[in-house]
Amino acid sequence: MSRNVFIKGTGSYAPEKVIPNTYFDRVGSNDKWIYNTLGIKERRIVEDETTSDLAAKAGLEAIKDAGLEVKDIDMIVVATTTPDRQAPSCACFVQEKLESYQAVAFDVAAVCSGALFTISVAHEFIKTGRYNNVLVIGADTFSTITDWERRDSVFFGDGAGAMVLSYTEEDKGFIDFDLHSDGRGKEHFTIPSGGSENPATKKSVKNKEHYFQMNGKEVYNTATKVVPESINAILKRNSIEVDQLAYMIPHQPSIGILKSIAKQIGLPFEKVTTNMDKYANTSGATIPLVFDETHKAGKFSEGDYLLFAAVGAGWTWGTALYKW
Ligand SMILES: CC(C)(COP(=O)(O)OP(=O)(O)OC[C@H]1O[C@@H](n2cnc3c(N)ncnc32)[C@H](O)[C@@H]1OP(=O)(O)O)[C@@H](O)C(=O)NCCC(=O)NCCS
Repeated sequence: MSRNVFIKGTGSYAPEKVIPNTYFDRVGSNDKWIYNTLGIKERRIVEDETTSDLAAKAGLEAIKDAGLEVKDIDMIVVATTTPDRQAPSCACFVQEKLESYQAVAFDVAAVCSGALFTISVAHEFIKTGRYNNVLVIGADTFSTITDWERRDSVFFGDGAGAMVLSYTEEDKGFIDFDLHSDGRGKEHFTIPSGGSENPATKKSVKNKEHYFQMNGKEVYNTATKVVPESINAILKRNSIEVDQLAYMIPHQPSIGILKSIAKQIGLPFEKVTTNMDKYANTSGATIPLVFDETHKAGKFSEGDYLLFAAVGAGWTWGTALYKW
């Protein structure tokens, strides 16, 4: 009897405050460039909420959507680069907010690939029979690590997405994962200080070393190379053709990157789910957030093949195949 792992419920949450592109005129950017190049119209940012606040709201919605109660959750895994504190984990903050003390809770760090990596961790725990219901959450507040005086402050927004993964004997759920990392890329997207290498000092704060630093060209070149490679590998390994895919649910780095990936693999862009226009890049949150919206818009039909794809700092990247 096969024990397949499927998405039983989804949820998402984004803070209320909207920052439109026109806000960035002050740093030498402009709406036309941001929309045409990145696909962003506006983003949400937190005012008095933390990452775990967003995560807990998305998580609770996913639990309800799954028809479960908080007490049914065996494990909570949170993908985030912007936890409430460096210690303890954001997942422990979420657990306290949900009062789900029966669940084991921990974080996974893979930056923009975080949600996909987190889903794969949850998948293994369920597949082996160790746990039945796992709450996976991607949540980030990059507004807290953004230098708002710089032009690259246009890229990110805050948000959270969640999924409850569970088991089924039906022929549906995750088919395969293809995950990769390459630490040689670590300088191309980084937060230089605040860790054990460069602990926080007055100088590190003055030099703004606690904000993210990104080499946009390297991100673009790497993403548009490694993601198509992973997609082609996972499709080949599972004997699935691109035209059998109903949707690709990718991480949302920029519309240019997504168009290049779709073109390289031969997927019509209408099959690529996007929500960058509303939220920008929400890092660990993007995949479960866009998935929740697409699912609740009624876009998926029984038997559809879905392709998840992510790339992020590290480098980290990968894909997953899913049968709805
Ligand atoms: C950011 C990115 C668009 C920059 O393009 P690039 O060709 O690599 O870099 P350049 O610095 O040469 O910029 C190209 C043009 O865009 C303009 N530009 C770059 N950033 C801009 C901004 N924030 N606002 C307005 N214009 C901007 C530059 O001025 C330049 O204009 P010019 O051709 O008139 O001189 C591109 O690298 C990219 O999409 N990278 C991916 C980044 C990403 O997705 N990050 C998030 C995931 S981690």
